[in-house]
Amino acid sequence: MPHDVLMVFAESSAFGAEGDGESLKKNRFLSTTREVEDLNQYWYSNRSIDAMVRDVESVCAGDDTTCAFLSTPSVYFSLSKPVRARSWCFDLDEQWQNDRGFVRYDFNEPTSFPNRDQLKGTFDMVVIDPPFITREVWENYTETAKFLLKPGGAVMGSTIAENAPFMKELLECEPQTFLPSIPTLVYQYKFYTNYRSKSLTVKNPEIPDDDD
Ligand SMILES: C[S@@+](CC[C@H](N)C(=O)[O-])C[C@H]1O[C@@H](n2cnc3c(N)ncnc32)[C@H](O)[C@@H]1O
Repeated sequence: MPHDVLMVFAESSAFGAEGDGESLKKNRFLSTTREVEDLNQYWYSNRSIDAMVRDVESVCAGDDTTCAFLSTPSVYFSLSKPVRARSWCFDLDEQWQNDRGFVRYDFNEPTSFPNRDQLKGTFDMVVIDPPFITREVWENYTETAKFLLKPGGAVMGSTIAENAPFMKELLECEPQTFLPSIPTLVYQYKFYTNYRSKSLTVKNPEIPDDDD
């Protein structure tokens, strides 16, 4: 199902882009980058990105580690300088083509992208948020992830709760407690990981409990 019928609003304040003046910093990507509806761009909130970045920077703490961000530009652009310098941003949107880590990527051709032979099997982690929620699309992202990852590499992805069975089947991923906030999407996603997450084990205060 395409997301484009579900977009509700897109002011940067809706994403908490300014931070909270305490532990959550201002997010430059969210305050400067508008979502492009035709590309099904739905940014995570500042607090969700913060939790994802903490996990990525924990998995990819070593100087020789590297993460591929598949259709998750907001997270790539929110990394600390040293981790971003060894990571890559795979996306169809060429607005980031002058960035050192940009790789033009179309999930319809899962293993055809610039420098594919050099990038193959070199990543410790991939982070995935496709523009569609269907199994067919996730099969393509799975092919890309398996092509890019080192054996035993870490996967973080987000999609709807109903996709849990194929997230397990395709990528060995399990749902996590911390739910993503995606302010312009009217339905709720879950995070999935194939590793023991450190930052996604607590509730996201932005998301009310079902029984609240
Ligand atoms: C639902 S958004 C995910 C964004 C993510 N939540 C974030 O905050 O970074 C989908 C992403 O897929 C990208 N995209 C759209 N069509 C694509 C395609 N054919 N191949 C690869 N990426 C695509 C969009 O540019 C967008 O970054």
